[in-house]
Amino acid sequence: MSRQSPLITVMVKAARAAGRGLARDFGEVENLQVSRKGPGDFVTNADHRAEEVIYNELSRARPGYGFVMEERGVVEGTDKTNRFIVDPLDGTLNFMHGIPHFAVSIALEREGELYAGVVYNVISGDIYWAERGQGAWLENWRLKVATRIKLANAVVATGTPFVGHSPERHQLFWAELSHLTQETSGIRRFGSAALDLAYVAAGRFDGFWERNLNAWDIAAGIVLVREAGGVVQEIDGGELLKTGNILAANASLSPKILSRLKAAKKRIEDE
Ligand code: IPD
Ligand code: CA
Ligand code: CA
Repeated sequence: MSRQSPLITVMVKAARAAGRGLARDFGEVENLQVSRKGPGDFVTNADHRAEEVIYNELSRARPGYGFVMEERGVVEGTDKTNRFIVDPLDGTLNFMHGIPHFAVSIALEREGELYAGVVYNVISGDIYWAERGQGAWLENWRLKVATRIKLANAVVATGTPFVGHSPERHQLFWAELSHLTQETSGIRRFGSAALDLAYVAAGRFDGFWERNLNAWDIAAGIVLVREAGGVVQEIDGGELLKTGNILAANASLSPKILSRLKAAKKRIEDE
């Protein structure tokens, strides 16, 4: 049975509070699909409101801690050793299209290291949480990454580049995809990096890779995967929270997926 620390309790409370507003707004967004103006501005406002709720909750509970937030940016704290990394709404495109798969993601970085993470699937109500040394949890279920060792049996999630991204970025993605589709059971693209990582921690996805993510997309999920016994790394050996080129999987599959990603990159560079 899991016992949440006071820190996790505070982070979960903030995520749930933001989630309540997002769930209400999600109901509204479904009506806006059919309006001519579309749900764009409404979603931006929902996103900002959720971030405000998280900021208020966390700064009341942990005064002095710093913040890195997707919308507000960096807020320096008086306590230089602790800062929250927050994505109030991960899976915005899903939210905007009435697809019920999005999350609130909150991480705590302590003394420069990722220390705790909470990912809240607002519509299913699932709270995934992890704290260094305490394991990763979904309610009372202790999370463990999948034990599959053969790439041929693996389901691997990813994130696709989209309109506005450079042709090079698309090209590299297609090369990676072509290497991995030929060798895995299946590829998934669900649209929330935070939940993708939570699913790796829960052993649902055997692996996840995506490039060019932001720290707030992955910080909480990284703690989940590591505490669930998985390996998280930067694909090209850089600094993960800076580049956002992430690969997460169990220890057997990690090097296998990595070798395919490297082969894809080499193919593009040689062309
Ligand atoms: C996005 C999601 C998505 C990923 C995008 C992210 P947002 O975050 O995590 O899965 O593919 O690259 O930007 O914009 O919905 O917070
Ligand atoms: Ca995000
Ligand atoms: Ca977001």
